[in-house]
Amino acid sequence: MKPLTEILATMEYGPSPESTAEAQAWLDHHQRRFGLFIDNQWSTPGKLFASRNPADDTALAELTQASGDDIDRAVAAARRAQPGWAALSGHARARALYALARLIQKHARLFAVLETLDNGKPIRETRDIDIPLAARHFYHHAGWAQLLASEFADYRAVGVVGQIVPWNFPLLMLAWKIAPALACGNTVVFKPAEFTSLSALLFAELCQQAQLPPGVVNIITGDGAVGEAMVTHPGIDKLAFTGSTEVGRLIRRATAGSGKKLSLELGGKSPFIVFEDADLDAAAEGLVDSIWFNQGQVCCAGSRLLVQESVELRFLAKVRARMGHLIVGSPLDKSTDIGALVDPIQRQRIAGLVQTARDEGCTVWQPEGTLPAKGCFYPPTLITGASTAATVAQTEIFGPVLVAMSFRTPVEAVQLANNTVYGLASCVWTESISLALDIAPQIKAGVVWINTANQFDAACGFGGYRESGFGREGGREGLLEYLLACAEDARPAAPPSVPHVATNGDLTSPGINENIDRTAKHYIGGKQARPDGGYSRRVFAADGSLLGEVAQGNRKDIRNAVEAAHKQGDWARASGHNRAQVLYYIAENLAARHAEFAARIAAMTGSADAAREVDVSIERLFQYAAWADKYDGAVHQPPMHGITAALNEPIGVIGMICPNEAPLLGFVSLVAPALALGNRVIAVPSPAHPLSATDFYQVLDTSDLPGGALNIVTGDADELAKVLAGHADVDAIWRHDGSAAGCAEVERLSADNVKRTWVSGGKGRDWFDDAQASGRTVLAHASQVKNIWIPYGV
Ligand code: NAI
Repeated sequence: MKPLTEILATMEYGPSPESTAEAQAWLDHHQRRFGLFIDNQWSTPGKLFASRNPADDTALAELTQASGDDIDRAVAAARRAQPGWAALSGHARARALYALARLIQKHARLFAVLETLDNGKPIRETRDIDIPLAARHFYHHAGWAQLLASEFADYRAVGVVGQIVPWNFPLLMLAWKIAPALACGNTVVFKPAEFTSLSALLFAELCQQAQLPPGVVNIITGDGAVGEAMVTHPGIDKLAFTGSTEVGRLIRRATAGSGKKLSLELGGKSPFIVFEDADLDAAAEGLVDSIWFNQGQVCCAGSRLLVQESVELRFLAKVRARMGHLIVGSPLDKSTDIGALVDPIQRQRIAGLVQTARDEGCTVWQPEGTLPAKGCFYPPTLITGASTAATVAQTEIFGPVLVAMSFRTPVEAVQLANNTVYGLASCVWTESISLALDIAPQIKAGVVWINTANQFDAACGFGGYRESGFGREGGREGLLEYLLACAEDARPAAPPSVPHVATNGDLTSPGINENIDRTAKHYIGGKQARPDGGYSRRVFAADGSLLGEVAQGNRKDIRNAVEAAHKQGDWARASGHNRAQVLYYIAENLAARHAEFAARIAAMTGSADAAREVDVSIERLFQYAAWADKYDGAVHQPPMHGITAALNEPIGVIGMICPNEAPLLGFVSLVAPALALGNRVIAVPSPAHPLSATDFYQVLDTSDLPGGALNIVTGDADELAKVLAGHADVDAIWRHDGSAAGCAEVERLSADNVKRTWVSGGKGRDWFDDAQASGRTVLAHASQVKNIWIPYGV
């Protein structure tokens, strides 16, 4: 058989335009002017802005820029509707979602044409991908609504959800947001992107037709200012955002301390790795789907080609040949491969980045051929000769621009793949299943496509690692973003704040016998370490007497601990069985010193429950030892010939501020689940009662935990939390000391590298209560799901 490139060279396509008559009639029916959809009613159009067709620069309609009052009305409508919607049976909600799915399917062609007019993407894509996937999402989540009561019995809806999406997949992103939210009993205020609101407005009509109760879905239009006002609105309980990492960071900062639940699906710079044994023709086709799909305006686009040096020239020749046959033109033509970019601003941005590549000495290649005279088009572009630090190798271009590099060995491929702040997706092309499945877990990304690209399905979670955001959309894990564990409602008020603790620099405070050094040091890299600053803190008993001293940690101590944690990569790679053995052993050694630990807790806190606290701590270690080899992922069977393996992977390095109530049990309840799943930990023990954690060093020393897996730094919670939250090599931060201001600060600082956060806010937690303090909800905080797509037989 001839290679595909040769076959293509001999083929010609005639024009095959799609009619826009129905879509134009729909716009005319609305006089090309839209208000907002609130409480199942259309508001009178207000301050207007234009929506244009980027392919020919014609005006399509005028849309309303929602005002502050409009947002208030939309949130109020959603609030009124929420209790009733959540109180409906799962079956009733399932029927509503099913009706929406059916209606999307019924109007699929109208949606496809409207989306193409509004966004500029080829009709082939809207018709065959965007709209069918949106319908599938509603079908799938109709099913979840039906099963919710039995599958998520201990959960409830979060409440009113604010949802903000970008312009690259307007209806599909709407489906990803609205379907799970409604299935779980939430009501929504949804904002499409200002460039592409029309399909959301058509969807609003379907909500009327499906007779959704008023206020369940509210759709408001407008630019970033509307989004900003939604983010800070006190009537919204959860925000779900898809868009740029820059705006994601703003949202993280703006919501810090608000208690709002948050999920962020942000940018990417995803690697497309081609090994020398790959089917190179198939890989070239995969690359087309990966970077030239939707003009490259895809968060998970395979925008960095990493090809093994031995096949680099051969593969790039195939890619160039294939690029030469990509048809750039009218998005309404069914043979068009590359349509229009969404807006001239995007074209300017892309052209600017390509110019930067030239300025930085890279080679830019574009196939010959002219672009349409009118409209917002950009040719497929290949950049070679970029260094790993080049702007185009690191920045999300969000256009039809591929940056190609080579590697020699699998180790180098992984290093290059992970050489980015992002972690959304990746592709691995090789005929060796053994190599593919060896590489997939090493890539820091939420999705790995093996010998395929840009596959999506409602049953498979999608979302990022690192600065690509947190939270998942789709799958069981996606539902958790729209649910709250009922046990959270039972949490007690915050414990009293920690009294000022004197350091040994404070000579007015009573000292202990200076002849005996009873200062507990830090525990870093498996060894006790003197504090860098040379200061210590006094620890007082419940009766006010001095109990001892602990090291006063500082920035340098935290840095050392983070370094030690990073060096301990083996713990993440250890088997669940192995980690379980270590946790059982820790429990056993703690049990052997039960009396000593109980006495210490009683002395520090005056608690009459000290012995029970040790008992429950031992049991909790057993619980997580049990989970270590049972918190399995899942195997999905999406509509493709193959499987998707969903793995629960550790987050990486977690910094944690432990609670003051239950100084041993609180510490164990945070540290054990993190370790059970292969994370490495820097724990700051209870600032008021740190000695249970410092006594724990001896338990650790006799328990085979590898050095660096758990590091303990004592000191001031606010100071150390700030360092951990701002540290670029810490992947998550948990703060549970009940300090509302401290938790807000941690969330604000976490925005810099988009850390995962789990904080107490101003509330406490009953650490003795399994429902509040252990199990799957805690394990979900300690893990992130990676979906590995494995097609076969193709
Ligand atoms: P954007 O992140 O600014 O916009 C996405 C959505 O957020 C829109 O609905 C917008 O109105 C809203 N928004 C903007 N500012 C906001 C704020 N301060 N608070 C709340 N909501 C706000 O993305 P934009 O400007 O459309 O595109 C700029 C660049 O961002 C692109 O070139 C691309 O690199 C990246 N991007 C990445 C996306 C992804 O899925 N990874 C999607 C869209 C853009």
